[in-house]
Amino acid sequence: MSQRRPMVAANWKMNGSHQLVKSMISEIKQVADLDTDIVICPPSTLLDRLALEADGTKINIGAQNVSQQSSGAFTGEVSTSLLKEAGCKFVIVGHSERRSLYGESNELVAEKVKAVVDAELMPILCVGESEDEYNQGISQEVVAKQLHAVLESAGGNCLQACTIAYEPVWAIGTGKTATPEVAQKMHCFIRGWLKERIENADAIRILYGGSVKGENSKALFAQPDIDGGLIGGASLKPDEFRVICEAAKE
Ligand code: PGA
Repeated sequence: MSQRRPMVAANWKMNGSHQLVKSMISEIKQVADLDTDIVICPPSTLLDRLALEADGTKINIGAQNVSQQSSGAFTGEVSTSLLKEAGCKFVIVGHSERRSLYGESNELVAEKVKAVVDAELMPILCVGESEDEYNQGISQEVVAKQLHAVLESAGGNCLQACTIAYEPVWAIGTGKTATPEVAQKMHCFIRGWLKERIENADAIRILYGGSVKGENSKALFAQPDIDGGLIGGASLKPDEFRVICEAAKE
């Protein structure tokens, strides 16, 4: 049996403000106790402010993206060391919006995971199939390929250091959540895939993401292989995000 701690991560995407940082921290600081890891990933410009407001709480700070390069002439990019200095502990890597809108390949995602682990930060590695792939019935193959790229080029130790976020692309921002059964089936597949290839795969957290809301979070998090969630839209509403954090705790 595993001792996985639940995790709920907020992906604010290109949203938020100083005001939201303040109201979010005051809403969830009591929930961020020892039983659940709560991570907030705001846009980079809000990291400092979040670090300031979250000081003295158990709320963790995360970034939404990172460069695979360590420093230098890479205009507009942010490195792991800059993120660390800003107070980050976690980094979302390979979100489907990065993959589809900014052309991030499986190989680039693997390089980023390696950079994050080398910097002793924790990657939240996103995987998931598109609607087309889902309809073709090839979801497992797609996800396996995404995981394989990380295993092959970054290695088993890097994969072991990841929290995996399974996010079916057709469920992101669409209101079409995967049912708890569909999500559990994929989580169970991912866990099995990991177990066959790396040690201690039972300790790896697998989050579900894609239209998680206060009202559906409990049923999703009750599944044996769902260890929490990566939350987009609902993480911009402090009261709703609090409900989701509480559901993970239970
Ligand atoms: P959503 O986004 O909760 O708005 O569907 C999830 C995500 O993109 O991580």
